[in-house]
Amino acid sequence: MPEPTGHPDLDALLLRVERIPTLDAAQLEAEHIALLGRKQGAITELLKKVPQLPLDERKAFGAKVNQLKLRAESLFAERRAQLEAEQRGRGEAVDLTMPPRRRWVGIDHPVTRVIDELLGIFRELGFAVAVGPEVETDWLNFGALNFPPDHPAMDLHDTIYLDAPPIEEEPHGGRLLLRTHTSPVQIRVMLASSPPIRVVIPGWCYRNDPFDPSHAPAFSQIEGLAIDEGISLVDLKATLTQFARRFFSPSTRVRFRPSFFPFTEPSAEMDVECQLCHGSGCPACKGSGWMEILGSGMVHPKVIANGGLDPERYTGFAWGMGPHRIALLRYGVPDIRLFFEGDMRFLEQFVPGGQGAP
Ligand code: DAH
Repeated sequence: MPEPTGHPDLDALLLRVERIPTLDAAQLEAEHIALLGRKQGAITELLKKVPQLPLDERKAFGAKVNQLKLRAESLFAERRAQLEAEQRGRGEAVDLTMPPRRRWVGIDHPVTRVIDELLGIFRELGFAVAVGPEVETDWLNFGALNFPPDHPAMDLHDTIYLDAPPIEEEPHGGRLLLRTHTSPVQIRVMLASSPPIRVVIPGWCYRNDPFDPSHAPAFSQIEGLAIDEGISLVDLKATLTQFARRFFSPSTRVRFRPSFFPFTEPSAEMDVECQLCHGSGCPACKGSGWMEILGSGMVHPKVIANGGLDPERYTGFAWGMGPHRIALLRYGVPDIRLFFEGDMRFLEQFVPGGQGAP
């Protein structure tokens, strides 16, 4: 701080100048005008007086006023910069102790991911995707697929029928129901196209089933159909084995067991090595070492004929599998209902990177 000058005007101003660092933003601007304003600033006024002073005083006094002016200017600039920095700092204030906000990561439902993956594998094997309606006629859902008229699957206890007038254009049976499987789309595809046919058909199916750990009244299926000249059981086994090895692991063992479906002859169920115990037997596979994942078979000649194709010329294979069940196997989930409940604590476990990772 400069020494007092002994000059009362200058000393009073000196005190004001030294208080500049204590001013707030508004006071600072007012004081700047009051001291250095071009018209009536107090220091400006003193400077204007210098030339009128007697020569001997002029030099010393002039130098002091000039010093005061320079000092004021530098204090104003410093204070201004300081206030600006404080202002900026306030805007960017970060509380480092605050817990982070959870970042919600949207992902596909685990069953949707299984469906996409299955369709992707079959796309690589040359299968296109086809779809059909969830409300179906009893002809396409049952009759055209060679179900005998009294088959128990058609019972009210198993199938959910619609309380709607039958479709008149369907002479074979136009009662409406919620399809119990995706197999009726086999007929729709055959009627709408010509061989070679290779399609996979994803979709929802409905049955009058309880909602328990292994059943759901609404569930997904993926149907597969290949129709061409000269297709044999070898093609069926090779295609489905290849699929299982891609989806599970390259060394996964599979086996085919004879079975029965009205729409295939012969029919087989395919098992894959239990994914939990790898064949040694555990509670999940009931000690057998195997898990059933799909039904399959060579398409029955009557079904090919009902699809409008010549069964003398064409043969084919078909299969049907349940992505909900396959998702249970893949993720070791004990209860199918978990896939329907929308409980975030369950679903978050499928987010890549862990449970709701921020
Ligand atoms: N539709 C059968 C079901 O829902 C599954 C099925 C079995 C489909 C054998 C097929 C097949 O195409 O060939 O249980």
